[in-house]
Amino acid sequence: MKTQVGIIGGGPAGLLLSQLLYVNGIESVVLEKHSREHVLGRIRAGLLERGTVQMLQQAGVAASLNKNGLEHDGVELVYKGRNCRIDFFELTGSKMTIYGQTEVTRDLYQAREKTGGRILHKATDVTLAGIDTERPKIQFHHDGQAKTLDCDFVIGCDGYHGVSRAAIPSKVKREYQSSFPFAWLGVLSETPPVSEELIYAYHQRGFALCSMRSKTRSRYYIQVPLDARVDHWPDDRFWSELNTRLPSEAARNLITGPSIEKSIAPLRSFVCEPMRWNSLFLAGDAAHIVPPTGAKGLNLAVSDVRYLSQALSEFYQNKATEGLDNYSQRALDRVWKASRFSWSMTRLLHDFYEDGSAFSNRIREAEFEYLATSQAARMSFAESYVGLPY
Ligand code: APR
Ligand code: PHB
Repeated sequence: MKTQVGIIGGGPAGLLLSQLLYVNGIESVVLEKHSREHVLGRIRAGLLERGTVQMLQQAGVAASLNKNGLEHDGVELVYKGRNCRIDFFELTGSKMTIYGQTEVTRDLYQAREKTGGRILHKATDVTLAGIDTERPKIQFHHDGQAKTLDCDFVIGCDGYHGVSRAAIPSKVKREYQSSFPFAWLGVLSETPPVSEELIYAYHQRGFALCSMRSKTRSRYYIQVPLDARVDHWPDDRFWSELNTRLPSEAARNLITGPSIEKSIAPLRSFVCEPMRWNSLFLAGDAAHIVPPTGAKGLNLAVSDVRYLSQALSEFYQNKATEGLDNYSQRALDRVWKASRFSWSMTRLLHDFYEDGSAFSNRIREAEFEYLATSQAARMSFAESYVGLPY
């Protein structure tokens, strides 16, 4: 088999890249380890920056997003029951859109299907060969046969556990990571949200987040210890704990119901440098992970794909290599700034279960006080929350 761009991984990064390349007249093949149902069964964050919405529009996959996405102008931060609203629209002129990652992925699959996109599901034993040459190959098994895909470039969109990043030799690769001593327990329920805007709350018992997928479907999270287990958190226990951690008005508005999804995910930050090695380019979770606070994961994957699709289009249109050569540096610049924001928002809002944390608690209190009383502080928060410019 032969194509121009070989893409490993059919999550949002790989699918969006293949769709944008198609729009620009470039051929690609996506190799995805799992079935389409499996990929669509994953529940992830659902908060899109304006730049992400624009990219999905440019890719021609935004009909449902334009119709069903909920636009938000602001967000509530709560510290021990006291609210601080950040009106990010007034501060930055940008809105955020609530639209689930599952729906983004479904829209991308549908678009690729309509336009004859080649996506091979259940492609296993993927290995990369010749990525230090201009004739790289991807070897894999599909439909019980060993196959080879010859391409000009290999793009690793295969998430944190994929094989692409491992193909960059350790002597040129540097990985940075930091783990947090807690996890998030998330619940999806067919109940109306407690408020029109998102609420991020710090409470002595731990963080809580009220988010949503639509006017009738809510998404809630609470901070739990790393060893927490879903089966120890029946719905009643979850609702009662969430209720305790919310400010009184939100708690009064909380409508509970059976959970339709419940899962626990640990929080960590991770960045791999560089994001390109010869013919191999990394994008999305394959190169970086952010904690979910602020929902930057999908938005960063989309900004990587934006830089990469532009660079590949310039290459195929007029043999220009500048965009490809600058890709790693450009992408990493935005990745590090978003990692800084996600990390500091996580520190601000969570209990770190530290002994003798009196000092860090006072620092947190001072930071909330600063946000509540300084427009400059709110502006800085808002600028990162809505997404830094590309
Ligand atoms: N071969 C083929 N496909 C693979 C392999 C492999 N060896 N390893 C992983 N994959 C696939 C996974 O099955 C998955 O579908 O790569 C895909 C990676 O998708 P995501 O993990 O969703 O990553 P990405 O597309 O970068 O999206 C980033 O999704 O994970 C969230 O928080 C993240 O919101 C962010 C966004
Ligand atoms: C979500 O809706 O899943 C969500 C929203 C905001 C976040 C994280 C997750 O910061």
